[in-house]
Amino acid sequence: MKISIFGLGYVGAVSLACLARDGHQVIGVDIDRTKLELIKAGKTPVVEEGMVDLMQQVAASGLVTVTTDTQAAVLGSEISLVCVGTPSAANGSQDQGAIVRLAAQLGRALKHKIAQNAEPHVIVFRSTVVPGTVEDVLRPIIERESGGRDGIDFFLCFQPEFLREGSSIRDYDKPPFTIIGSNHAQAAERLQALFGHLPCKFIRTSVRAAEMMKYSCNNFHALKITFANETARLCSALGVNAFEVMDLMCQDTQLNISRAYLKPGFAFGGSCLPKDLRATAYLAKQRDVQLPMLQAILSSNKEHLDLAFDKVAATGRRRVGMVGLSFKTGTDDLRESPLVTLAEMLIGKGYTLSIHDPEVHLARLLGANKSFIEQHLPHIGQMLQPELDAVVDSADVLVLGSNSPTVIEAVARRARPDQVLIDLVHLPAGHGVRAQVQGLCW
Ligand SMILES: NC(=O)c1ccc[n+]([C@@H]2O[C@H](COP(=O)([O-])OP(=O)(O)OC[C@H]3O[C@@H](n4cnc5c(N)ncnc54)[C@H](O)[C@@H]3O)[C@@H](O)[C@H]2O)c1
Repeated sequence: MKISIFGLGYVGAVSLACLARDGHQVIGVDIDRTKLELIKAGKTPVVEEGMVDLMQQVAASGLVTVTTDTQAAVLGSEISLVCVGTPSAANGSQDQGAIVRLAAQLGRALKHKIAQNAEPHVIVFRSTVVPGTVEDVLRPIIERESGGRDGIDFFLCFQPEFLREGSSIRDYDKPPFTIIGSNHAQAAERLQALFGHLPCKFIRTSVRAAEMMKYSCNNFHALKITFANETARLCSALGVNAFEVMDLMCQDTQLNISRAYLKPGFAFGGSCLPKDLRATAYLAKQRDVQLPMLQAILSSNKEHLDLAFDKVAATGRRRVGMVGLSFKTGTDDLRESPLVTLAEMLIGKGYTLSIHDPEVHLARLLGANKSFIEQHLPHIGQMLQPELDAVVDSADVLVLGSNSPTVIEAVARRARPDQVLIDLVHLPAGHGVRAQVQGLCW
């Protein structure tokens, strides 16, 4: 294929070298003439393992040319990869100056290409951009400058880049996956022809989801590093070997290094996580160790709970039916259940509340579980209903906190279209609930 690459920094230069190595004709574009001269001379503009040899090899192959001329590059290629920098501005926002200026230039170049009746050009944004940038910022500029339409005269896609500096050629050849954010199948097919040979999954999604997932990946990586480092700081103060602890932790591939707990839902609670986080924070305080990330977890969890309360309040309805009360489906453990806290908040604000949880039977509660509920919901006896139907029938707004299939079926059978249902469990597709379902944050 004939490919033009805009921005020859770490991402662009490595892509240029690897694509030319794989036999494609590549036009490199940058505003920095020094980088262009280096590439022309078969030298690498970035220090990366393997790049010295690879640049020499691809320069000799005759498959690489460089230019500062955007129009010539667009006219001479079928696909453009945009890899310009998107650094932080002083206030923390993303400085989109370079990519916005480039979008205008690309639009003007496309005008000529459209006039030639050429095959629709594909522009693939590979720079990391905040969600919505391609569709709300770059597309209007390109459409205005080109006079053409995305999806008809050209295609705009977003393909997040996952290479890491220091191992970029290896990462190019073996990415975790290829994600194509594309609103048009035709553009995704062209990219599959270019990247489909890589030994990984090729996944097509929406442009916005692709933009967002790149941030989620980087945020998750930062979170993992900080988790390991905070754990190490506490270990060090306690005389425990942090490497041993983290190694043991990582050996659990069921709950720790896995998909477990990575699905959006309601706040966490129960008899373990909150108390153990509090004990960790207290221990750190005693040892003068700062753990800002771990210490922030409970307040973030409280935000999630407050969101559920706000959702109920926003309905303007006062008679609430809560389905589910224990800290998770399938247990009667009420200790530190976020649903108990939500019930407390609702009662405190004068809502009329009735509750059903198939697992919770007051007469059978014992020990710490019993004393917890007596302390937090002393009048629970008046609210707890043995029959789900009674709770559904008497409510204007339902709060669904149980994801038991039997409960969901029963709610689907009984709920009415005039009721609002605040869904805390992410109801499965085809749930059949006829109430006006509002997801917590989905
Ligand atoms: N560096 C990484 O490891 C990495 C990994 C994944 C994603 N990314 C993302 O990829 C993008 C590029 O990162 P990078 O580290 O390669 O950046 P970089 O700063 O090394 O390179 C950007 C290049 O773009 C050029 N440029 C600026 N305006 C231009 C224009 N109008 N036309 C042509 N070229 C222009 C600059 O001169 C520079 O050479 C960023 O959005 C970054 O967040 C980077």
